[in-house]
Amino acid sequence: MSKARAHPNIAFVKYWGKHPKWEEYHIPTKSSASFTVKDLYTLTEVEAVNGKGRVREFILNGEKVHRDSKDMKNVEKFINKLSTYVSEDVKKYDYIIKSENNFPTAAGLASSASGFAALTKALMEELSRDHSWAEEVLNDERKLSAVARLGSGSAARSITNGTVIWRRGWDKKEFDPLWDSYAERVFSGPDDIVIIYVFVSRKRKKVSSREGMKISVNTSPFYWYWVDREEKELNKTIDTIKHKKYEEFFKRVIEHSNSFHAVCRASYPPIEYLTDESRDVMDRIHTLNREYGYEVASYTFDAGPSPVLFTTKDMEKDVLSMLKGYETITTGVKI
Ligand code: DP6
Repeated sequence: MSKARAHPNIAFVKYWGKHPKWEEYHIPTKSSASFTVKDLYTLTEVEAVNGKGRVREFILNGEKVHRDSKDMKNVEKFINKLSTYVSEDVKKYDYIIKSENNFPTAAGLASSASGFAALTKALMEELSRDHSWAEEVLNDERKLSAVARLGSGSAARSITNGTVIWRRGWDKKEFDPLWDSYAERVFSGPDDIVIIYVFVSRKRKKVSSREGMKISVNTSPFYWYWVDREEKELNKTIDTIKHKKYEEFFKRVIEHSNSFHAVCRASYPPIEYLTDESRDVMDRIHTLNREYGYEVASYTFDAGPSPVLFTTKDMEKDVLSMLKGYETITTGVKI
């Protein structure tokens, strides 16, 4: 049995769409960037027994996952991809998987990133006992990230800590879709940024990220314009963190989030993840920023209505007092 842990990540430059040429490999149309999140994690155990590449049992947060459920199908798909693209050795075993999140999955906190990252690490460790290719993957964070990507794109960014960039990779010559798109740490900080998860109620039926991004790539009229623009802006956003120009960073985070949701809204049929409560939190942040006369905090939204806020340690109290009535979890960047 092998055990591994991985933390969720929160993207401030979003991944939203797979390149149509390499959809199966989860190659993104654009690069993205995130913070790995402290305190929250997924812990996964994997046992490989002689078999045929099947998931014999999958226990998630203490409960047996049903054969026909989406969670089970996604894990099986991942195992199949590993045996097709990485090594046929994967097919020689069946797998018993136990996974626990130390955070509330039901609250809408994405667990697929930390889930597939922890599963990748545990699986590679388990297989490295008998297979040198798995040992090679295990000892190379870029390779681990590329493998985790096959499970869920955003999992590529949960292999490492700190501030992370996942480069799309396909704009370089001789691109290998298996290994050349991976995430890496750009630096281990920042240690002075506070991350606040805010929980708002989820009303409508969710369009999953996987479905939603496909609709956007196929129908959003300014999709590729957005991709090109974001690709140019990404390094500038990273520079603001490196130089601790947080006012500018917070403004950019808000812009990245809002342009992503504009792409969703312009899709056909339109995809709307934000609710009145989401907009209420956005307004409160803008009000606070206006009071100070510069950006002291930002919000970002993934494929759901709950915001994640960034601020600095000295502003934490002010931001939290603006959020009266909402449930929150306060944490920081995993260094
Ligand atoms: C909005 O990684 O869940 O959270 O690759 O299809 O598994 P798949 O998608 P997923 O998409 C995450 C999208 C996002 C933005 C982000 O995390 O960058």
